[in-house]
Amino acid sequence: MTYAAQQYDFSDKRAGYEQLTTQLHGLLHGETDPIANAANTVALIFDALPDVSWAGFYFMRGGELIVGPFQGKPACVRIALGRGVCGTAAARRETLVVPDVNAFPGHIACDAASQSEVVVPLIAADRVVGVLDLDSARLARFDAADAHGLERLAEQFLRASRLEDLR
Ligand code: SME
Repeated sequence: MTYAAQQYDFSDKRAGYEQLTTQLHGLLHGETDPIANAANTVALIFDALPDVSWAGFYFMRGGELIVGPFQGKPACVRIALGRGVCGTAAARRETLVVPDVNAFPGHIACDAASQSEVVVPLIAADRVVGVLDLDSARLARFDAADAHGLERLAEQFLRASRLEDLR
């Protein structure tokens, strides 16, 4: 593993995510285990991004989303497809940026402090295999630059990992 902790500067989000993408590449290099890679991916994201209260994976298992590796407070374990921000992003197969979770119909409040959220669906071989979910205690914490940066990190995780090992 070639990883050295760094100071991250997200005042320029594009540059920040660029740096993070390079870091994640080094971190996942030579490892295909999906749980190990998911754990390191969210540890890196949680360590690097300011104002993030929760970062984690949910994986599709038996037709529902089940929580995977994460950083932050304990979370809801099972989310049905189409429910909450996570289940909606998975069902629609699109990244959802929610500036105010209290205004999102059906939002699942795992942590009462959460104010905004971004969820990136994980799609492999045309199947939704899970989602990457980030929460913040700050309203409108995430924007299109975060969505784009996180989509790239999620793609990197998917490329590096043997998802069939999840079953
Ligand atoms: N808020 C999410 C539930 C998961 S937690 O944020 C960790 C949702 O509405 O799907």
